[in-house]
Amino acid sequence: MIKMTEYAKRRKKLMQQVGSNSVVILTSAPMAIRNNDAHFPYRQHSDLYYLTGFEEPEAVAVLIPKRKDGEFILFNRVRNHSEEIWNGIRAGQDGARKQFGADQAFPISELSKRLPDLLEGREEIHYALGNDKYFDKLILKALQRVRGKIRNGQQPPFAIIDITDSVHEMRLFKSPEEIALMRRSAEISAHAHVRAMQFCTPGIFEYQLEAELLHEFQSNGARYPAYTSIVGSGANSCILHYVNNDKIIKKGDIVLVDAGGEYQNYASDITRTFPASGRFSDEQRAIYDIVLEAQLTGIKAARPGVAWPAIQTAMVKIITQGLVEVGLLKGRVDHLIEKQAYLPFYMHKSGHWLGLDVHDVGRYKVSGKWRTLQPNMVFTIEPGIYISSDIPGVHKSWHNIGVRIEDDILITTKGNDVLSRDVPKTVAEIEDLMA
Ligand code: GLY
Ligand code: MN
Ligand code: MN
Repeated sequence: MIKMTEYAKRRKKLMQQVGSNSVVILTSAPMAIRNNDAHFPYRQHSDLYYLTGFEEPEAVAVLIPKRKDGEFILFNRVRNHSEEIWNGIRAGQDGARKQFGADQAFPISELSKRLPDLLEGREEIHYALGNDKYFDKLILKALQRVRGKIRNGQQPPFAIIDITDSVHEMRLFKSPEEIALMRRSAEISAHAHVRAMQFCTPGIFEYQLEAELLHEFQSNGARYPAYTSIVGSGANSCILHYVNNDKIIKKGDIVLVDAGGEYQNYASDITRTFPASGRFSDEQRAIYDIVLEAQLTGIKAARPGVAWPAIQTAMVKIITQGLVEVGLLKGRVDHLIEKQAYLPFYMHKSGHWLGLDVHDVGRYKVSGKWRTLQPNMVFTIEPGIYISSDIPGVHKSWHNIGVRIEDDILITTKGNDVLSRDVPKTVAEIEDLMA
């Protein structure tokens, strides 16, 4: 668990960055309807969560550096006996102060009334304009109201600055407490992958493997998956974001499973690919070994000071070489790389930042230049080769082999640490596990 003192430290740091003539506004994620009056499970907006730990919907945090009556103001739902009987306990304003360390707390219904006073006298509003129409309107209206009182001596803010860049830069570098949670998240998901491999047998539906994954996530405290699990067999292994998961897994199919649990809101994101029957065919093994070599090369390249695209460059080289060796590409490797001849087989990037969001926030380029890897960044390395039947000139013995191998990597001072190391990865290890 992240301690309230860590959230307080984050708020301090953010307030120092924006400066004392500013006000920061962070809003909750909307609730989402699944059908009629049934909701999707609620998930707090990661930025608000990162700075408060507050998980209830209908909440707004206002941070006002050096404000006399307190710097951290939380607007949240009021306590309500009937609502709490039906839908669960609310922190209320007392809880906002006592449990979440707010200096002041007010009912969310008072936001539009109180906001103009909170903006008055500050020069900059730091707010992620454009993400939420409801809050955009409310905040712009509050700004209008302060502007309307300029002749009474009130000073309206004159700039609206996107807060996300500062918060996302902080979120990119994980604290020891966050790393511990991410390690646990990856560990749970690793065990889920092992469970799925052991359970797999031709004749079952893809969703039955999904059920095994979810069982392992949930029974270990990762209550929700970090994204919809991908379980693609045969031709479906070549569909990058396949989530139907409703086909029967057949003998001879390769099965691609991309799944990760979310533990205390921290994502993991792991892909393994294995043969339905437990034994790779010659073609499947050949492709698998290229992707594995690419991934291991990518992981080796990941260390402090290395520019982000270096991982992709290293992996593209191995993949292109491999495709030439098995005869799926013809020509000189350097020419093929230059022409991006690998794109029909490998059409995505090396990976992405990982954290509270599965595709986590943070810039990949700073001042127009690719950023270099630094300790405490966490990201995925996930090369793949996907041979769908519509790639021209490919013999059908190669068709419908989609392989991706994805791990979660923490950059350390010396190199890196593979957080998802607990899932077998070599052909021999996988065949042993499935035997
Ligand atoms: N599971 C989505 C991804 O690997 O990026
Ligand atoms: Mn990923
Ligand atoms: Mn993935």
